[in-house]
Amino acid sequence: MNRTAMIDKLNEILKWEYAGLIQYTQYSFVLQDLWRGVYAEEFRESGEEALKHAHKVGDKIVALGGVTTVERGEVKQTLDLHEMLEYSLEMELRHVRLYSEALALCDENDVALRVMLEDLCLEEQEGADKLAKILKKNDLSLAVTGKAQHRAG
Ligand SMILES: [Fe+2]
Ligand SMILES: [Fe+2]
Repeated sequence: MNRTAMIDKLNEILKWEYAGLIQYTQYSFVLQDLWRGVYAEEFRESGEEALKHAHKVGDKIVALGGVTTVERGEVKQTLDLHEMLEYSLEMELRHVRLYSEALALCDENDVALRVMLEDLCLEEQEGADKLAKILKKNDLSLAVTGKAQHRAG
């Protein structure tokens, strides 16, 4: 494994976990109206998850001989719930991509690092899948059509 490249990639991840922490926590603060009861806690928890991920990644950066960044990625602010969910999905998909890129830098014998990155990547993908369902991003028309045909047959 190219250690410098891995440290750089992990620092890029850390920067975007910090962005997630701030963005989600901001949404949990400012969200109002009836949906606050449903989503404020969700956003608060997503912020906490980002901080947990940041802790894991930051500890690993130093374990590899690197220094952790204090930069953060861009935070998208809004007061609109639908936009919050869209920006959250963008954030999760970015995290999935970044962890996948870090995994691609692993050699076969970097077992523990790979497992850590896989676990984190899985949590990002689960977050993305959940948001995609809330935002109805998946086209289920094929399945519905199939069912209709089945019934007709
Ligand atoms: Fe994360
Ligand atoms: Fe996430």
